Amino acid sequence: MLAEREREVALEATVRERLELIEAALLRAAEADSAMVTEAARHVIAAGGKRFRPLLVVLASQFGPAGDPAGAPAEDVVRAALVVELTHVASLYHDDVMDEARLRRGSASANERWGNTVAILVGDFLFARASEEVAELGPDYVRLQARTFARLVQGQIAETVGPQDADPLAHYLQVVADKTASLIATSALFGAKVAGAELSVQRALAAYAEEIGTVFQLSDDVIDVTSDETGKTPGTDLREGIPTLPTLLFRRSADPSSPADSRLLQLLDSDLSDDADLAEALGLLRVHHCVDEARAEVRRRADRARSFLADLPAGPARDALADLCDSVVTRSV
Ligand code: FPP
Ligand code: MG
Ligand code: MG
Repeated sequence: MLAEREREVALEATVRERLELIEAALLRAAEADSAMVTEAARHVIAAGGKRFRPLLVVLASQFGPAGDPAGAPAEDVVRAALVVELTHVASLYHDDVMDEARLRRGSASANERWGNTVAILVGDFLFARASEEVAELGPDYVRLQARTFARLVQGQIAETVGPQDADPLAHYLQVVADKTASLIATSALFGAKVAGAELSVQRALAAYAEEIGTVFQLSDDVIDVTSDETGKTPGTDLREGIPTLPTLLFRRSADPSSPADSRLLQLLDSDLSDDADLAEALGLLRVHHCVDEARAEVRRRADRARSFLADLPAGPARDALADLCDSVVTRSV
């Protein structure tokens, strides 16, 4: 029991240390030739963030071959985490331009502050930095990073063009898998690979992370409707006309004979650029049972993510990954 607690405390210390190193590495990587570019590139990094992807790298790096006392080299773990977080932050610079978002992590978005052109180019700059770092890890990592980038882009394009003739919910879930779960799965895979984990362990961690990544985005989409504390403008998806889990479930069960449902259908089919219309749509959606159904789906998928952990060696790292399944479900930011 005591030994178990000691291992848990040791893991907490390792996670804390690694995350501090990653934070410093992120700021260094964002340093550019000009003070203005440095400021713009550090803008979203310095605004904080959950560092979910670096945390997954660090936790997955605990699954090296049994009996390896040295564990994964800290330098490689930090570099792998740096690559995925820089890629994520770069994608946010681009995403906020596409979503016309004015707030990110409680601060003005880069596009709001410097305009679209600078925001896009700073995203490119950060992605270039990520590419430089991944090259140090080796060709396997470069290939994985390139494939992940391709999935991110395809997910974002699919979201932009919409489902066309496909089933809207299936289309949405594919978008979520590509635009979000892909990089989260790669985070776990990078962590496992730098630790030299066995192939079966790498696969289990990647499957877990692909599912928890989906849960992460589904929960983000529910929060976009329900929370005022995200550091982002609530209802951004609604305003942009992007269908997400709550609105897709609403459309499936909407009762046109109910005045509230029929009004919400009318609002969802209209241009929600007007603040009052958006607030009305958000208000109607928040009290609709589709939000509870969306939360239930988030919980169901979090349980599925947890099931992939069954074949991993027991210990504090596996417990921490299981805890993430709960925190992703209950998060409000
Ligand atoms: C946020 O989704 C956006 C993503 C998860 C992926 C965006 C991907 C790209 C822009 C393509 C890749 C680009 C680079 C440079 C790597 P969201 O808008 O639903 O989330 P939000 O609520 O946080 O804005
Ligand atoms: Mg967005
Ligand atoms: Mg978006």
